[in-house]
Amino acid sequence: MKIAVLPGDGIGPEIVAQAVKVLNALNLSISMTEAPIGGAGYEAAGDPLPDATLQLAKEADAVLLGAVGDWKYDKLERHLRPERGLLRIRKELNLFANLRPALLYPELANASTLKPEVVSGLDIMIVRELTGDIYFGQPRGISTLPNGEREGINTMRYCESEIRRIGRVAFDIAMKRRKNNQKAKVCSVDKANVLETTELWRQVIIELSAEYPEVELSHMYVDNAAMQLIRAPKQFDVMVTGNIFGDILSDEASMLTGSIGMLPSASLDANNKGMYEPSHGSAPDIAGKDIANPLATILSASMMLRYTFSDETNALKIEDAVKKALALGYRTADIVTDGCKKVGCSEMGDAVVAALN
Ligand code: IPM
Ligand code: MG
Repeated sequence: MKIAVLPGDGIGPEIVAQAVKVLNALNLSISMTEAPIGGAGYEAAGDPLPDATLQLAKEADAVLLGAVGDWKYDKLERHLRPERGLLRIRKELNLFANLRPALLYPELANASTLKPEVVSGLDIMIVRELTGDIYFGQPRGISTLPNGEREGINTMRYCESEIRRIGRVAFDIAMKRRKNNQKAKVCSVDKANVLETTELWRQVIIELSAEYPEVELSHMYVDNAAMQLIRAPKQFDVMVTGNIFGDILSDEASMLTGSIGMLPSASLDANNKGMYEPSHGSAPDIAGKDIANPLATILSASMMLRYTFSDETNALKIEDAVKKALALGYRTADIVTDGCKKVGCSEMGDAVVAALN
């Protein structure tokens, strides 16, 4: 198994180091090779996605990524900014399916800003389309109109096949997640009352649902979904949505779980090759201080074992070790509550490694 390790910027290197530590402790036959991306790529090769990094990622079975971005690059030309590197690697590797589970660990019920009874037992999977929509649609850009005024343009677009393949991922995951005799549920999120792109989205998802009679399909407008996620999040099982709505709703869902520092993600192509990264950003304000929460990255490594390497045993081992470390009271600053042991980033990594055995 070949893994490309791309730590990136900000807290990226510290959190990735903890996930690498956990993977090494499992004694798997994997080889890991590091390369720069984002601001680090720009520093190393003048490109947020250096050719060598892309090549390495293409040749690997999976990619483990930290985070990209730092304010100091905000003044660069758009194509040189760190975020471009991330968007390009997603597109180049055809990673159209972004899975962002929002799962509340019982120990963290008090870390959420919502009442414990609203979030306890929460287990949502957000399936976000990742290579289309307004993120990549053409035309785009900022230009000057004949009257001298500037105009900004982005284009929201989806074609049927793009909607169908992400819909399929969502329905398949819902089937796999079905517990006991409960019906699998998919909620498709759109803005079909206003945007034609998502009117088509809804039509295609409805057509596709005929192939999944066991799954209960519902539809929700994105504004209502944002509200329902806070009002009664446990009504959701799998949510499927486009790139921009998924970006926003997954940040919102992360706060139900106590901290965005707990949320892993997987971005998959059609063959389950994947890139695994925490859902959170590079947090340059706390970079290098050894206080970031590495659990989202460690849990991303667990998703890597599950989805790309079909190694459910070791995926569960990592998840159990995270639960055990939390049960023992270890907490980074973002999730600490009274009576817990406040630890730094690398200490949290050590606690998970210790809990593996
Ligand atoms: C995410 C991030 C990225 C996105 C940014 C950094 C380009 O917010 O992964 O959710 O918008 O997709
Ligand atoms: Mg985001």
